[in-house]
Amino acid sequence: MYKIITKEEVAPNIHLIEIAAPDVALKSHPGQFVIIRLDDKGERVPLTIAGVDLQKGTVSTAFHAVGKTTKKLAKLKAGDSLLDFSGPLGNPAEVENFGKVLLVGGGVWCAPLHYVAVALKKNNNKLVVVAAGRTKNDMVYENQLKAVADEFHVATDDGSKGNEGLDFINDILKAQKFDHAVIMGPVSTLKKIVEMTKPYNLKTMVTLASLMVDGTGMCGACRVTVGGETKFACMDGPEFNGLDVDFDELISRQRVYLPEERMASMIYDKLGGSVKRG
Ligand SMILES: Cc1cc2nc3c(=O)[nH]c(=O)nc-3n(C[C@H](O)[C@H](O)[C@H](O)COP(=O)(O)OP(=O)(O)OC[C@H]3O[C@@H](n4cnc5c(N)ncnc54)[C@H](O)[C@@H]3O)c2cc1C
Ligand code: FES
Repeated sequence: MYKIITKEEVAPNIHLIEIAAPDVALKSHPGQFVIIRLDDKGERVPLTIAGVDLQKGTVSTAFHAVGKTTKKLAKLKAGDSLLDFSGPLGNPAEVENFGKVLLVGGGVWCAPLHYVAVALKKNNNKLVVVAAGRTKNDMVYENQLKAVADEFHVATDDGSKGNEGLDFINDILKAQKFDHAVIMGPVSTLKKIVEMTKPYNLKTMVTLASLMVDGTGMCGACRVTVGGETKFACMDGPEFNGLDVDFDELISRQRVYLPEERMASMIYDKLGGSVKRG
């Protein structure tokens, strides 16, 4: 069992949890993920690592409560435990001295992006960071990202804080030369930013939240087409050069179980959000 040490709702429906998992903490690098299971009938949910504390032996991850399992997870408290906490899985994000790096994070993904940003900063990169959220109330890790950035921008979908939407990134790309880009966010955001960086042939690393089951390359659930080849996001990724990713195929594969996911979430809500097994 893996104990929840701290848990905080950092924005509406977005929670940051810190789990006691010293062995995972010791081996984790920015960009990698864990797979959690709440109980013996639970599904396996991948979550990107947002940081580790080696002294406490903990791993942090931020999650958006969107479906049955993440809603159940949101109901747990500090002191409760998870059945499984497998990791670290996947490859670490590419981190070296690139020069000037553009980082864009959307919503919950700003937390793991911060973990990557800190590592890039340690490698003496200049960081231009964009933190985005739906509204001013949905911003996640804004202050932490601002603290590590050389240049910092905020964007909201409704314009309630900072820039309205992400189109202003086109102006940043026109005005400055970048050596590398890292984007973490919903697939629609990844696709949008890659369309902007493509004309500059800027290597734009994106973390792909494809459907996953085992996370070890055995089940094939997470397959994505990258550069015309079939890759497994769990083993070959989850970070890929977005210029090569077939986003339309990824989006359609993500929707394969939508009716079942919606049904499970609806039944869970109807039963009053019970955290009992099942
Ligand atoms: C490698 C990897 C890393 C990931 N890291 C993170 C992370 O750090 N934090 C995090 O929150 N998620 C992360 N995800 C996504 C996360 O695994 C899924 O959101 C999770 O599986 C949801 O499980 P569920 O059972 O609660 O919902 P599901 O039953 O899977 O989905 C329920 C419903 O929610 C909808 N839905 C799913 N995702 C979203 C969304 N993002 N926004 C709005 N609606 C949505 C679906 O369309 C569906 O209708 C990651 C995924 C992968 C593959
Ligand atoms: S999740 Fe099974 S192969 Fe990647």
